[in-house]
Amino acid sequence: MKNIAILCSGGDVSGMNAALKRFVEYSIAKGLKPYFVHNGYEGLIDNTITEAGYEDVAGIIVNGGTKIRSSRSKRFMEERYRRQAIENLGQHDIGYLVVLGGDGSFKGMQKMGEESSGIGFCGIPATIDNDIAGTEYCLGVDTALNVIKYAIDSIRDTASSFSRAFVIEAMGRECGYLTLVSALTSGAEMCLIPEIPYDLNDYKIRFQKEIEEGREYFIALVSEALENTEQIAQWFEEEIGIESRVMVLGHMQRGGNPTVHDRLMAFHFVTQAIDGLLEGKESTVICYSEGGFEHKHIEEVAFKKYKMKEDLLKLGMEFGSHQ
Ligand code: F6P
Repeated sequence: MKNIAILCSGGDVSGMNAALKRFVEYSIAKGLKPYFVHNGYEGLIDNTITEAGYEDVAGIIVNGGTKIRSSRSKRFMEERYRRQAIENLGQHDIGYLVVLGGDGSFKGMQKMGEESSGIGFCGIPATIDNDIAGTEYCLGVDTALNVIKYAIDSIRDTASSFSRAFVIEAMGRECGYLTLVSALTSGAEMCLIPEIPYDLNDYKIRFQKEIEEGREYFIALVSEALENTEQIAQWFEEEIGIESRVMVLGHMQRGGNPTVHDRLMAFHFVTQAIDGLLEGKESTVICYSEGGFEHKHIEEVAFKKYKMKEDLLKLGMEFGSHQ
């Protein structure tokens, strides 16, 4: 019997617990002995590796976050700690490792793969940022979008009771995906993301006309990457002449009860990962596109820059221009 382990690395996402459940159940079904690595790569170094069973995953599918915790490990960037991690995996006779995380986590996995032999690695894209090259979907994105949708819908209730502009900052690191999709699906008036250049004068002309025609309040979505949320709120006050409020959604975007889509995607990603490892596919990341799931080599994913899809960008361009 071969032993297989899983760990969560980087920002947690809703859906990781569903992945852990599937991991334990599917590993056992495939004749593998499942192990949890607690605290991400830190746990791999510190040897917090435990055998996992059905009892460990009972009832966790409804929870956001990750039962086995996560970390952003600086130590793992150093070879001596990676060597320690490989030794620890060997101690537990672990022949396969599944890593849930973003491209930084996959780079770590790639390094470990180069330095070890006899261990098969597979990555599952999991980040609310949806910023991993080669995959159109990362675990956790749908839940994050739904959390943001709920927040904006609530803000709209109060915004519409006053004459105010609400400037809402969404996460995503350097990527505007969450901001753009949220702006589109919540009916926002403004959307500022790093991928699309904008001109505040165009917005000004449009907003002044809309106020004349009866608009009383504004919802503006701004990506955290631009670092100008406060300035935009000030701009509404000074240039548009409307009272403004800022709302930084922050880490609440990472939590919450996982949506059906994320639970199902977690099941698919894990199934693909385990099947792939058993077929001898190693050092790959499971990528998803409309065509289905595909195993891509880590280098094709972790070392390439994510590009937003053209059709989405096109919708985003319309914010600054017409309307
Ligand atoms: O990568 C996920 C993410 O939530 C980003 O959107 C955000 O910029 C970052 O992590 C926040 O990191 P931390 O949890 O370390 O504050």
